[in-house]
Formats: sequence, structure tokens, C-alpha cells
Amino acid sequence: MTNKYMYFIANWKMFGNLRTLNSLDSVIKFSNSSKKNKFKIIYCPPNTLIRPLSKRLKKTKLLVGAQNCHHNENYGAFTGSVNAKMLKDVGAKYIILGHSENRQSGETDKLINLKIKSAIKAGLKIILCIGETLNEKRKNKTNQVLAKQIKNCLKSINKKSDIVIAYEPVWSIGTGLIPKLDNLSKSISFIKNKFGKKSPKILYGGSVNGNNIAQLKDINSLDGFLVGGASQNSKKFIDIIKKTFN
Ligand code: 13P
Repeated sequence: MTNKYMYFIANWKMFGNLRTLNSLDSVIKFSNSSKKNKFKIIYCPPNTLIRPLSKRLKKTKLLVGAQNCHHNENYGAFTGSVNAKMLKDVGAKYIILGHSENRQSGETDKLINLKIKSAIKAGLKIILCIGETLNEKRKNKTNQVLAKQIKNCLKSINKKSDIVIAYEPVWSIGTGLIPKLDNLSKSISFIKNKFGKKSPKILYGGSVNGNNIAQLKDINSLDGFLVGGASQNSKKFIDIIKKTFN
């Protein structure tokens, strides 16, 4: 049982359409009825749904975020791209950056750093994803990778108060696997220590579901969860939130 203030972030990835938004009514109802529980729910749908979702959530406690942006803070000739201020304009308050699915298609720490700077300028809060691949884990390089990603992605960013870190081991995403709790605790402490006294909120992401949440919630140093697949089903998502506080 936790008394902490917890984040539950739904990363819908490239799923969902206008009809899907109807399924959120049960989450809104749940959030309104949960007077005692202290949590923040942030939905990060595809860009096409940010405007309709933010309108729908206007009088609720739920917030909307984006999943990525172009690094250029200004408008420009970048066909198919959307920048941070355009996302802010349609209702996003948060943005996921550095997700491994984007890193895998060539996104570098340097580019992520530029994106973070542009998103902070636009007034968005950042959910920065970091995590090691299976290969890196096997070579015992987890801490090295985390340290490098933190250092490079947050280079020359002084204002860290608007940043949340999501530790997502790449090998745990969509696989049903989660780290051994002991290892996960150690990685979270390692990340916290990198920031010293001003540690940001740290979330875990990777195959979070209604079964493993019972174990994950016992890691006291965690401030919440970044949920992929299970967040697309409102019943499953509510179940995760409820069990975190049980
Ligand atoms: P899954 O919960 O589907 O493993 O996805 C995790 C994730 O990538 C969240 O950003």
C-alpha cells in the first residue's frame, strides 16, 4: 500500500481513433470518484487525438500529453512533422521524449536533447524515457547506459523541475517481462543518485499490467508507471491504478 502521489501515464503509441475516446468515460468516472487516492493520470494519444481528447477532458483531472515532436522550436519546412508549440497549442501539457521505439529508428541523445529544450520552451512538461537494451543488460552495461543517456539528453538543461524520468528497459517493452525487483530498485536508486538532492519523479515502464503491479508497487522509490498496451483498455488501466493503492 502506498501513500505516495503517483503518476499513471498512458502511452497509446500508434493506436486509437475518435471512437476509442468513448472508452475513457469509465476512467473519468473512476478518477472523479477516487477522492482519497493521490494520483495524476496523463493520456498520451497519437497527435490526431490530442485536440479532441483535451476538449473531452477539460473539466476532469485527467491530462493530455504527446508522444514525440520535431526538434525545431519554430515553424518550418519539415513535411509531416509537428513541433512542441503546435502540440501545446492543441492541448498537450506533457510530452514523452526519448522513447526507445524512436531511438531504435535513429533518434540520438543529441536530438532528444534538442527536442527537450524546444518542448520546455513551448511550456510542456517532459517525460524522458531511458533504458538499456537486452544486449547492454547482458554485458552489465545498464548503469553506464543510463548515466550516458541522462547526461547527454539533459545537457545544458538547468531547469529540471519540469522533467519526469521514465525508466523503460527496452527488453521489457511489450514482452511481458519485467526486471527482477531487486535490480529494478537498484536502477531507480542509481538514476536518483545521478540527480543528487533534486531528483525528479521516476517512473517505471515496460509490460506493466494488472498482475505484476502487485510486485512493482512495492518499490517505494517509484513515483508511478508509464503504461503501453494495458493503457488502451480502460478496465485494465483502472485495475493497475486501483491495485497500486491496495
Ligand atoms: P508496454 O506496457 O506495452 O510494454 O509498453 C511500455 C511502453 O513502451 C510505454 O512507453
